[in-house]
Amino acid sequence: MSLVLVTGTLGNVGREVARECALRGLTVRAAGTDEAALRERFPLLDVVQLDFLVPQTWRPALAGCDAVFLLRPPPLGDMKATLCPFVDEAYAAGVKHLVFLSVEGAERNAWVPHRKVELHLMKTSRAWTILRPGFFAQNLQDAYQLDIIEDNRIYIPAGEGRVAFIDAADIGAVAARVFAESEGFREQALTLTGPEVLTFTEVAALLTAVLGRSIRYEAASIPGYLKHLRWRRGMTWMQIAVQTVLHVGLRRGDAARVEPTMERLLGRPARTMKEYIQGASSRWRSG
Ligand SMILES: NC(=O)c1ccc[n+]([C@@H]2O[C@H](COP(=O)([O-])OP(=O)(O)OC[C@H]3O[C@@H](n4cnc5c(N)ncnc54)[C@H](OP(=O)(O)O)[C@@H]3O)[C@@H](O)[C@H]2O)c1
Repeated sequence: MSLVLVTGTLGNVGREVARECALRGLTVRAAGTDEAALRERFPLLDVVQLDFLVPQTWRPALAGCDAVFLLRPPPLGDMKATLCPFVDEAYAAGVKHLVFLSVEGAERNAWVPHRKVELHLMKTSRAWTILRPGFFAQNLQDAYQLDIIEDNRIYIPAGEGRVAFIDAADIGAVAARVFAESEGFREQALTLTGPEVLTFTEVAALLTAVLGRSIRYEAASIPGYLKHLRWRRGMTWMQIAVQTVLHVGLRRGDAARVEPTMERLLGRPARTMKEYIQGASSRWRSG
């Protein structure tokens, strides 16, 4: 595989995929909706504007690419109008292998948008690999960041649910290996998780130890969480619904399984939550 188009390169997973592919000697074309921001962030990479909502941007982004790392941007819900036709366009443009970032359990959840893309890929007779990661450690620096900085707390309706947090850096490493050893991963769906299960109380204790200030976990009630996201964080009702379903699922243990696949694919242990927090500690310091 020589030229890999990486979508969502300014996001958590895309930037790690781009970095790991480059480390393996693959040529990367970094794609996103904001070409200027990409150029500033990746001055040494080939960058291109790609917007799944603007089909005219697809063909130029795909020109000359051998492989694609495809992710579903969180704001996009209609896969039939966006990612599915993009998949067709990619294969028509000569792409030989497409790696799709799905989500753990998508095979059992017809309602998640990712499942539509999975089924679309499975209907093609071309090479694809599906990655199904569990719950990201990076949620601490995205969804929970302001609560940690402003209130010194994690406030979500996850009860005492246990989670096998996965570090996006490890997803990047697996994706790069798939591209580098393409033949061995054709038509496979790989469930990926972190190496240990932790409650949010344990995560708060790790943050406390690394940051040197007290961070607590407060298990939110559903009404309390809805109010918090609506009035304090200004989210739309659709975003609130997604966040609530996701976190209530953690209570039930939806992301509590450790998959040994990850260590085998990485050839080393997966990164722990402690390692992730130590590496990202500046994200939770104010100012
Ligand atoms: N969070 C979790 O725990 C978890 C667990 C399993 C799976 N996932 C899945 O992982 C994916 C999210 O990955 P992530 O955390 O890396 O996302 P992210 O950090 O939110 O980044 C998403 C990227 O999508 C790009 N984007 C937004 N709108 C776009 C559009 N219309 N066309 C093209 N690109 C667009 C953005 O690029 P620009 O900045 O250039 O607009 C951004 O870089 C989702 O599909 C999610 O369901 C998440």
